[in-house]
Amino acid sequence: MEVSKLLAVLALFLLSLITKIFKLRKHPNLHHLPPGTTGWPIVGETFEFRRRSIEGSISRFIQDRMLKYDSRVFKTSLIGNLIAVFCGPAGNKFLFSNENKNVQVWWPSSVRKLLRQSLVNKVGDEAKLTKKLLLSFLNAEALRNFVPKMDTVAQQHIKTHWEGKEQVLVYTIIQRYTFDLACSLFLSIEDSQVPNLYSTFDEFLKGIITFSINLPGTKFHRAMKAANAITKEIKLIIKKRKVDLEEKRVSPTQDLLSNLLVTSDTNGRFLTEMEISDNILMLLFAGHDTSRSVLSSVIKYLGQLPEVYEHVLKEQLEISQGKEEGKLLQWEDVQKMKYTWNVVSEALRLFPPVRGGYREAIEDFTYADYNIPKGWKLLWYSGSSHEDPTLFPNPETFDPSRFEGEGPPPFSYVPFGGGPRMCLGQEFARLEILVFMHNIVKRFEWDLVFPDEKFKYDPMLEPEKGLPIRLQPSPYTQ
Ligand code: HEM
Repeated sequence: MEVSKLLAVLALFLLSLITKIFKLRKHPNLHHLPPGTTGWPIVGETFEFRRRSIEGSISRFIQDRMLKYDSRVFKTSLIGNLIAVFCGPAGNKFLFSNENKNVQVWWPSSVRKLLRQSLVNKVGDEAKLTKKLLLSFLNAEALRNFVPKMDTVAQQHIKTHWEGKEQVLVYTIIQRYTFDLACSLFLSIEDSQVPNLYSTFDEFLKGIITFSINLPGTKFHRAMKAANAITKEIKLIIKKRKVDLEEKRVSPTQDLLSNLLVTSDTNGRFLTEMEISDNILMLLFAGHDTSRSVLSSVIKYLGQLPEVYEHVLKEQLEISQGKEEGKLLQWEDVQKMKYTWNVVSEALRLFPPVRGGYREAIEDFTYADYNIPKGWKLLWYSGSSHEDPTLFPNPETFDPSRFEGEGPPPFSYVPFGGGPRMCLGQEFARLEILVFMHNIVKRFEWDLVFPDEKFKYDPMLEPEKGLPIRLQPSPYTQ
């Protein structure tokens, strides 16, 4: 059974590779391509890339090739695709500024198949319309009203999962905050209704960047099953919500779902039920695992660097002292968390949860004097600038002051990507992370059970041992 499964997988890839090679052979523009190696037949350099990912040394994969071939752009082959890796601020700028001109967003087939009719599968005008609809809920102006709600969820989470504990496993427990918050703001469902969704989402996450072979036993198959189970739940919620909206039992602005059900795009078209549920699945996924990774790495740095912790604490206490006792955080309070955000930004520079993104060449063009043929996949990778000592002196040092004043040069700091396909949850992430930081530093001091615990990408950034920390109540607990 195992052998026949393997043969089926190999046969499928061989077929897709032969088709690609055949198409490329017919291509007139195959001279002077970016330098690099496409590795082994079919699998290319996928296994080395994955091994480096898991070891947490993916930057070595990129930097070795930048040194060996060209620091501006080189080619490789990953999960069955020929890929040109665009490096540094110039590479980022090119890909971010040319969306819908000669490049377009592209995701590996596993992502496209799992996120079906969501924004990630839309390009051009269709993408613009969908993005605008989603941003009607996720823009800064709309989200400012949800800060007190975020504060309530953070406080409840800390009360239930942190208070009275001597030790917590940060990466596991923090998912309850980021996921509950997303469920609450997107669907108005509370934690008691979602416990089995945590593990379903973990299955989904493990199969999102993988070979998209839907055979029993594969990660992708399990992720597909998870996506179907989550979609089923979301659809039930949509059905009920439609009735509630019709009967005016709920407000049309109470959450993302209501917003999407009552708002049409600029052409007067409403999203279908399938589009709504796929977009919500995408946002639940994109919106909780990323922030969970960031919060984990920030907590690690605060545990390692007492002077940074003290500075964050000072800022947060000043905010509390300026408020009436017991009053929830407001958007204006979050605007004052400048140093804390610099700390988060530095953690995002060193450990971005999403390290890069793909585009596809939609026509032949030249870049850095090399020909890039139509159909090639293009990758921007944040480490190629985030770890460049000419842009970030002593790049391995954690130094939040890099973000003071004018901050890093344009296109060098890109944890949220850039251009028309830039992350649309940036403001949501900023608010949920800062609200959590406020609540946690005021209540606890902590130290790391494993001071040298490493973080790895699988595919999202996660601490190898889940980041256990020992908690002590803060003398400033209010
Ligand atoms: C700190 C947390 C986060 C980080 C570091 C992050 C990073 C990214 C990056 C690098 C991209 C790809 C951008 C590109 O290719 O140019 C992206 C896309 C995206 N992110 Fe985030 N993200 C975060 C949080 C969120 C949240 C909270 C949400 C939703 C509420 C979200 C929703 C999305 C969506 C929908 C896309 C696809 C956008 C498109 O295709 O146009 N992200 N994110």
